[in-house]
Amino acid sequence: MSDTYVASIDQGTTGTRFMVFDHSGQVVANAYEKHEQIYPEPGWVEHDPLEIWENTQDVVRQGLEDGGIEASQLEALGITNQRETTVVWDRETGKPVHNALVWQDRRTTDRVEELQEAGKVDEIREKTGLEADAYFSATKTEWILDNAEPLKMQSARGESLRDRAEAGELMMGTIDAWLIYNLTGNHITDVTNASRTMLYDIREMEWDEDLLEEFGVDESMLPEVRPSSDEEYYGHTDPDGFLGEEIPVAGALGDQQAALFGQTCFDEGDAKNTYGTGSFYLMNTGNEAVESEHGLLTTIGFQMSGEPVQYALEGSIFITGAAIEWLEDVDLINNAAQTAELARSVDSTDGVYMVPAFTGLGAPHWDGRARGTIVGMTRGTRKEHIVRATLESIAYQTRDVAEAMEADSGVEMTSLRVDGGAVKNNFLCQLQSDIIQTDIARPEVDETTALGSAYAAGLAVGYWETVDELRDNWQIDREFSAEMDAEEADRMYGRWDDAVERSLDWARE
Ligand code: G3P
Repeated sequence: MSDTYVASIDQGTTGTRFMVFDHSGQVVANAYEKHEQIYPEPGWVEHDPLEIWENTQDVVRQGLEDGGIEASQLEALGITNQRETTVVWDRETGKPVHNALVWQDRRTTDRVEELQEAGKVDEIREKTGLEADAYFSATKTEWILDNAEPLKMQSARGESLRDRAEAGELMMGTIDAWLIYNLTGNHITDVTNASRTMLYDIREMEWDEDLLEEFGVDESMLPEVRPSSDEEYYGHTDPDGFLGEEIPVAGALGDQQAALFGQTCFDEGDAKNTYGTGSFYLMNTGNEAVESEHGLLTTIGFQMSGEPVQYALEGSIFITGAAIEWLEDVDLINNAAQTAELARSVDSTDGVYMVPAFTGLGAPHWDGRARGTIVGMTRGTRKEHIVRATLESIAYQTRDVAEAMEADSGVEMTSLRVDGGAVKNNFLCQLQSDIIQTDIARPEVDETTALGSAYAAGLAVGYWETVDELRDNWQIDREFSAEMDAEEADRMYGRWDDAVERSLDWARE
């Protein structure tokens, strides 16, 4: 018999990746395609869900072809995705009624301020574990239902989208649900993605009626919520569809929870930080949903078939890797790899601080009106200083959430597992270790997001029997220990706070 594998579709903010893993968790195929970022107005970010579905099919075909793998060799398919990004589509045609509103989109900030003024914040935090923020899917769904103007005309009967939603004609979902629907025909999401909508009660484990009413979301629009690794499977791919095979789709996790799983953070106290478009620092808190007093989110970490939910504390940093992309956009660098060399070419930033609050600030500040700031420039400031300040901003933002995590959990961090595109940069890893004064462990397979959802799907079909097998697969690539003394790290970090102060509330009129 030929070898068999488990595959993962990793639908991220900037692109879609398909990866195939063997039993030892090694990558045997990998394909990636970017999709268009649509910015209709400042602060608005959209994606075309149909383009995402097309690209998904392309990368799957491409990955299998390049890896010399037949679809019939895949024992299971897992999904992982940019979280919170919201799609509403027509139940009959399967076509979206509007572009997806991306997690970074700030158009509903006013609505969130209304919620704050109406004193709803505590109720939202108690039920969903989230800070009331435009980041999550609730206000995005509400916006689409109220504002997708051209679509109201789609209905020959002149009905509004709200009427159509009440008549059961529309479906809503985050990107996992959109892909599961297109792959299997079933309307399903997993617990981790549900926990990011601001509509789901993470303790009762159900869509919350009061929140559905607050945002005018009819329950008939919502997907069924299932475990992240599901022995009952979400469904199968269509044998007459693009893959030509009936493959179980059996695992799904939001990408940050998938990275937690891929880093084998299965036990209470285990933590990881992923450096993608933003950075997301998650710590497993076991079966207890720990409430944060320091601006972190309480969220669902994962759920295995037939087992209780494992919760996590999360520090969501909106912009880290995207700040490096911005350096490229404004022609300060030609590519991300160059940042290490430029930053190393100067001893320090010469007092320059860069706060990349391009889409407001997430944890622990939660200020949708914060905006990007560069402070401390002099006539002698060169691009090398700005590049170095940008890398430092990634490390400082991580320290912000690491300190909050220690304060909330009472667990003193001694080593942090890292992953994501930016950790290929040794300079950044060393800097990170210096600024948080903790060892940084980089695993061999740094695509832990895709790996995590493959693990979830593979466990569901019995490709892997236990999580211990997965722990054995985790191998360290390199460890970084702090070289800077603690006093110097504290001094640099102290000024960062002052810089953040200047970026807060900037966009308020
Ligand atoms: O919450 C947003 C997060 O899931 C996005 O992750 O890796 O697509 O930037 P990424």
